Amino acid sequence: MSTSTTSDNATRQILVTSALPYANGSIHLGHLLEYIQTDIWVRFQKSRGHECHYVCADDAHGTAIMLRAEQEGITSQQLIDRVNAEHQADFARFGVAFDNYYSTHSEENRVHSEAIYRALRDGGFIATRDVEQMYDPERGMFLADRFVKGTCPKCHTDDQYGDNCEACGATYTPAELLNPVSAVSGATPVVKSSTHYFFELPKFEPFLKEWTRSERLQPQISNKLQEWFEAGLNDWDISRDAPYFGFEIPDAPGKYFYVWVDAPIGYMASFQQLCEREGLDFDHYWKRDSDAELYHFIGKDIVYFHALFWPAMLEGANLRTPTGVNCHGFVTVNGAKMSKSRGTFIKAETYEQFLNPEYLRYYFAAKLTAGVDDLDLNLEDFAARVNSDLVGKVVNIASRCAGFVKKSGGRLSATCAEPELVQRFIDEGEAIAADFEAREFARAVRRIMALADDANGYIAEKAPWALAKEEGREQEVLDICSVGINLFRQLVVYLAPIVPTLAEGARSFLGLETLNWASRTTVLLDHPIEKFKPLMTRVESDKIDQMIEASKEDLAVEKKLKDDAKAAQGEATSTPGEGAGETPAADLEPIAPEITIDDFAKVDLRIARITQAEYVEGAKKLLKLTLDIGSETRTVFSGIRAQYAPEALTGRLTVMIANLAPRKMRFGLSEGMVLAAGDNDGIYLLAPDSGAKPGSRVS
Ligand code: MSP
Ligand code: ZN
Repeated sequence: MSTSTTSDNATRQILVTSALPYANGSIHLGHLLEYIQTDIWVRFQKSRGHECHYVCADDAHGTAIMLRAEQEGITSQQLIDRVNAEHQADFARFGVAFDNYYSTHSEENRVHSEAIYRALRDGGFIATRDVEQMYDPERGMFLADRFVKGTCPKCHTDDQYGDNCEACGATYTPAELLNPVSAVSGATPVVKSSTHYFFELPKFEPFLKEWTRSERLQPQISNKLQEWFEAGLNDWDISRDAPYFGFEIPDAPGKYFYVWVDAPIGYMASFQQLCEREGLDFDHYWKRDSDAELYHFIGKDIVYFHALFWPAMLEGANLRTPTGVNCHGFVTVNGAKMSKSRGTFIKAETYEQFLNPEYLRYYFAAKLTAGVDDLDLNLEDFAARVNSDLVGKVVNIASRCAGFVKKSGGRLSATCAEPELVQRFIDEGEAIAADFEAREFARAVRRIMALADDANGYIAEKAPWALAKEEGREQEVLDICSVGINLFRQLVVYLAPIVPTLAEGARSFLGLETLNWASRTTVLLDHPIEKFKPLMTRVESDKIDQMIEASKEDLAVEKKLKDDAKAAQGEATSTPGEGAGETPAADLEPIAPEITIDDFAKVDLRIARITQAEYVEGAKKLLKLTLDIGSETRTVFSGIRAQYAPEALTGRLTVMIANLAPRKMRFGLSEGMVLAAGDNDGIYLLAPDSGAKPGSRVS
């Protein structure tokens, strides 16, 4: 879309960001709420003729990403490059049009991070202090709370994270866990001391109190911040010890910036890259007294970072602070948290295989306000709304009128038969613009759909199809349909930020150069139009069902990949994110996709007798089993140590996969697999009824 030409106010310079998605997970519909919200706002600003730049990047640093790459057997750089390409492809599919998309692991970001840190240090806002923390002696690394697992000291549930218990809700420190283990290596962690660097947030309390009371934040957020002030601000630990994937802190060898330090600075780095490419003045946007505007769009989970740490860092480094931090709520699907097992944890890529991305853009817009309430994607309502509004009301106007115009030569009437009606549509643009500006998209959509109702009412009342059957009334028919097309054009100008692909189709049908906001004031008279092609088809509800099913399959595939990665490492490990990514679903797995009897026959299952079971030196989860399958003896490593003592297994019968390709593990060769059922409560080895003979085939 063109960004030039007239605007209703003086041209503003606006820099806009969305939060930087972590580089270790796929984009899903929850993320998309944010990127779509931001993109609509940016497209609106550009339509109004403002100079608006929209930048983003992948958030590439941190322990979770480092470990994930290790698990996949690739370098961190390879992982973040791959994910960056996936993310950009997802955003492109959904019409999210960044002016620049970068990575926090960039030279520009290193330079800005170091500069801001130095400014804070020289300004007297950095302190150092020794901190005791859990340390993995095997892996040689400090462990964040989420990387320590053990038994809850309160309720004694196994396998809980180091900060809180999912069973009873108790909170504690990792040192209080019973039988703590490192989630990275399985080793028993020890407590170790190390020097950490702190950003002295309390020194900014007066500034922040003032800053957060201004118009920059939504009222709900300001109120939340007042609670945080009452609880008291603390120094912020901004360093992590090596090994860490990130930037080393200047003059502090072996110490790295915590990922959340260089993540928001990544906004600047991405903009820097854009400035260099397009010859923009970086400092003009970031200097202390800048009159350019700066907005961050974020989710409600990361307010603390954007409304406290970030403005304080900028203030301390003598840079400008954001004009606004625009926070949104979370996406729920069919009234509940997105769930992998219900198939409502829907990836951007999966959605796009089944449904038009513009349906989602419209639905989100139709429900978005400037508030921070959660937004429910009710899939039935989604289909009904898109079908009735976009297809039934808006596209319908053009499809009803276009044929008659084509029949009478393809040119709209030279005079407007309903100047007042058309003018009312043009005038309404100011109120709609005010709603877009205020991020009250739902209100804007209501106004636009009220106009669409009026347009359809006008056409229904005039019934050009009836007149067309009468002799000598061709001009009247053309006049009515020309009004209809002009009204349609107004609607498309207003909807273009929300549904840019539909708008692009309409633009070429209308034979216009631009659909920007100002262009709407010229009524189309004696203007040629192109042949009408359907601009959008109806949502098919079986496609929605298929998308849900496919999302359940995604889960099965993901689990298989995880298990394989664990096996490849030689032992089960889990790598929960440092706030990154999603924790695995606790629900039972859905049934896997159907297979044929031939597929099943490929698996050679045999009755096996466990003749020997032993602990494995250095492995926290494995037992080494010796299995008698009649014709031969097999060695298998199995992750059942938590549930079974070796002596309880000797002599028992079980079932094994005898034709599984042998796998080299850290502790030796595993020549098959025993069958067991696992869930959150334990592991249950399968056993045949007594009398089954070792070696007999199971089918
Ligand atoms: N990497 C950090 C942000 C750093 S910004 C300097 C991060 N990444 S994230 O991938 O977890 O989330 C990116 C954005 O998506 C965040 O603003 C987050 O609030 C938003 N959402 C993630 N899941 C969401 C929903 N289910 N619903 C709505 N927004 C969601 O946080
Ligand atoms: Zn507990």
